[in-house]
Amino acid sequence: MRSPKPFLAALAGETLSPPPVWLMRQAGRYLPEYREIRAKQPDFINFCLNPEAAAEVTLQPIRRYDFDAAIVFADILLIPYGLGQKTWFEKGEGPKLTPLTQATQATLDIARAREVLKPVSETLSRVKAELPEETALIGFCGSPWTVATYMIEGGGSKDRFEARALAWSDPERFDALLDTLVEASALYLADQAAAGADALKLFDSWADGLPDPLFDRVVIEPTRKIVARLRELGVTVPVIGFPRGAGPQAVRYAQKTGVTALALDHGVDTGWAMGAFPKTLPLQGQLDPAVLRAGGAMLDSEVDRLLSTWEGRPYVFNLGHGIHLNTPPENVAQLLRRLRGA
Ligand code: CP3
Repeated sequence: MRSPKPFLAALAGETLSPPPVWLMRQAGRYLPEYREIRAKQPDFINFCLNPEAAAEVTLQPIRRYDFDAAIVFADILLIPYGLGQKTWFEKGEGPKLTPLTQATQATLDIARAREVLKPVSETLSRVKAELPEETALIGFCGSPWTVATYMIEGGGSKDRFEARALAWSDPERFDALLDTLVEASALYLADQAAAGADALKLFDSWADGLPDPLFDRVVIEPTRKIVARLRELGVTVPVIGFPRGAGPQAVRYAQKTGVTALALDHGVDTGWAMGAFPKTLPLQGQLDPAVLRAGGAMLDSEVDRLLSTWEGRPYVFNLGHGIHLNTPPENVAQLLRRLRGA
């Protein structure tokens, strides 16, 4: 049966014109209505774990723009927080974690994470009840490699050097950490699907700059394990993989991980991608968030260029990375007008 949700139809392989659209990080600080709620939620993690507030900000971009999909308001760093690693968000600086040692790694607790993250499922149930029939709901988590980089480095880092060094110097410890993240993430995603997520997305935001053996070991293999574990748990919904910055390594990623669809960043050569991936593989992407912030004629021409390049294949329109916080909300409205021909 055809899905009444265009986003799910595209993930099932249908070519739609115009393509369905949503934007990475569509709930957030570029929206005044988000900033208003955020002002009353000083602690970001508590905000993510407050189903009433999280459901409200998940729905804000849907009300304003009528996107084809909502993505649950949460964060990829809820997993280390739930596992018991000290994790917090510093204003203007982003995520901070007490860097993982061998001793603290041994205390990470998968059952605890599942329990602590239950409010995210509650958010999904609340959002599901409010969404129009044609709007899909996306659940997500960070991929093990990207989450592990934050856990090892203690926050964001320029080139994830310490995480790479540990992966090379102590493969046994590092791969054990990835396995813990695989299991915790699979259970978390399965709970999100049970709560109403129509699709799941794995964010591997730091999949760039890895030599092939490391890419295969820390990006492809844990992703493959999560998808396999989800299927073993009876989860049938589509899974979108986002190996940001992987370049040509994304071809192996698409072949080996079992993801249903591939999200491309804006640095991927569009013409190359057309020939590199099977025509039946649904793709998502890849507008530069900077052209969305810029707006004007350049935004229109980039939308047109992507639409004409991806014509004739299953495609979901999106950004190549998250929306920039200084993006004028009117530019998002312009993007949708251009895309939908309204
Ligand atoms: O609308 C949505 O997309 C849903 C919510 C969502 C957030 N984070 C909320 C958030 C999603 C899908 C994420 C994913 C996420 N979080 C990623 C992967 C995607 C990507 O952008 O690469 C990463 C790497 C993180 C980690 C993270 N969270 C960082 C580095 C930061 C600080 C930098 C920033 O963008 O502010 C966050 C904070 C965060 N997560 C905010 C939001 C709305 C801003 C927090 C605020 O309101 O102050």
